Amino acid sequence: MSRVLVVDDDKACARTLELHLRAQGHDPVVAYDADAGLMLARVEPPELVILDIRMEGRSGLDALPDFRALQPAPEVVMITAFHDMASTIAAMQKGAADYIHKPIDVDELDAALERLLGVERPDQLLPVRDVPGGPLQMVARSRAMKEVFKTIGLVARSNATVLITGESGTGKELVAHAIHNASEQANGPFVVVNCAAVVESLLESDMFGHEKGAFTGAVGAQPGKFALAQGGTIFLDEIGEMSATMQAKLLRAVQYKEFSPLGSAATSHTDARIIAATNLDLASQVADGRFREDLYYRLQVVNLNLPPLRDRIEDLEDLVHALLVRINKEMQGGITHVDQAVLDCFAEYTWPGNVRELENLLMRAVATATGNVLAMDALPADMKRAVLPPDAPATDSFGLGSLADAERLHVQRVLQATGWHRGEACAILGISRPRLRRIMREHRLISPGSSED
Ligand SMILES: Nc1ncnc2c1ncn2[C@@H]1O[C@H](COP(=O)(O)OP(=O)(O)OP(=O)(O)O)[C@@H](O)[C@H]1O
Ligand SMILES: [Mg+2]
Repeated sequence: MSRVLVVDDDKACARTLELHLRAQGHDPVVAYDADAGLMLARVEPPELVILDIRMEGRSGLDALPDFRALQPAPEVVMITAFHDMASTIAAMQKGAADYIHKPIDVDELDAALERLLGVERPDQLLPVRDVPGGPLQMVARSRAMKEVFKTIGLVARSNATVLITGESGTGKELVAHAIHNASEQANGPFVVVNCAAVVESLLESDMFGHEKGAFTGAVGAQPGKFALAQGGTIFLDEIGEMSATMQAKLLRAVQYKEFSPLGSAATSHTDARIIAATNLDLASQVADGRFREDLYYRLQVVNLNLPPLRDRIEDLEDLVHALLVRINKEMQGGITHVDQAVLDCFAEYTWPGNVRELENLLMRAVATATGNVLAMDALPADMKRAVLPPDAPATDSFGLGSLADAERLHVQRVLQATGWHRGEACAILGISRPRLRRIMREHRLISPGSSED
């Protein structure tokens, strides 16, 4: 239900439009000249103006900038006769959203209305900007992440073993890399082992290497990753998934810095710096007997815990910008602006997959984008549903109510005080128009003058 102002000095045409708009579920008002239209628009701003170009008195073309200067600015569709093409072009240049030819074809009109009113009109677009993130493009604005950076700096001074913990997608591998790059072994190799590998013998050979004939298919001797990481860092990812047998073998490597390749009795030495990571709670794995306690203590000489994204929402906006710059470059994408409403939505989401989930979402958005704006339509339905507050009103013994209750009450009060003037309400609330619309929809706040249910 949108307020639409029709301005046309042809009364029959104006009346036909009014009836059609009402039948389509809109809330039309009619004026027969530009000045009367502007007055009506100032009383209650329309979301859309249908403006005739040729009128007695002031022309629509002349009045167009005044309509566009209203706060909030309505979209303007010009009505034009075929022979007005030059003025149509001028109207588009002056900020009209579309034009419709007379005699009016209802299908054409409906398509324009749907396009202009059906989608949320972004009213605050933020240009995508690069965020300085150092050589690894690691973004950190939050206190929590600045602490992480401090720890990275501290542990990079020594050769101490580090255990990086954190939910999946929080940036554990990125941090391991950062420690390596900041350390004295930075010029040495950074070698990754995925400890969640299914076949145990393959993992063993991957880590420690094998002799010729150690197993079927081992046609020649091959060095393992501990040997390859000599002079650098070995990163043991998903360490919590390792079997008991492999944990025992790894303990020897961690404790004495020595290991034996598969099928060999000889002992090799390693000076590689060891960094391990897991998204499991290793302490409780130890308590449950699933992870060796001695290995656990050897690994977590320093424990670096990465906070989940939902606990550092201050990082979100920078992350969106930095990731978009990177993804645009990698995928030849052209997203240049972000709708503030999208950021509002992101800030309320819980991000179970953390930065990786955000990255995947942005990659999908860039791949499927039709314009240059990251807008609400790029967000998965699941996410939009997830940020909606629960339907049932909260009850508590203090009678205080939930944040959602307070939001509904406050927004309702502001709307009533402003006579349901959305522009003014947005200014008082300090929020964008799409956000106000979303809040109104969520809480079913409906202007008393409208018959929307
Ligand atoms: N602070 C950050 N700044 C920029 N990009 C980041 C940041 N943190 C994570 N990323 C990006 O998010 C993605 C996931 O990071 P990473 O692979 O390091 O996470 P992880 O904790 O190892 O995840 P998983 O548990 O799924 O293996 C990567 O593409 C990484 O570049
Ligand atoms: Mg990882």
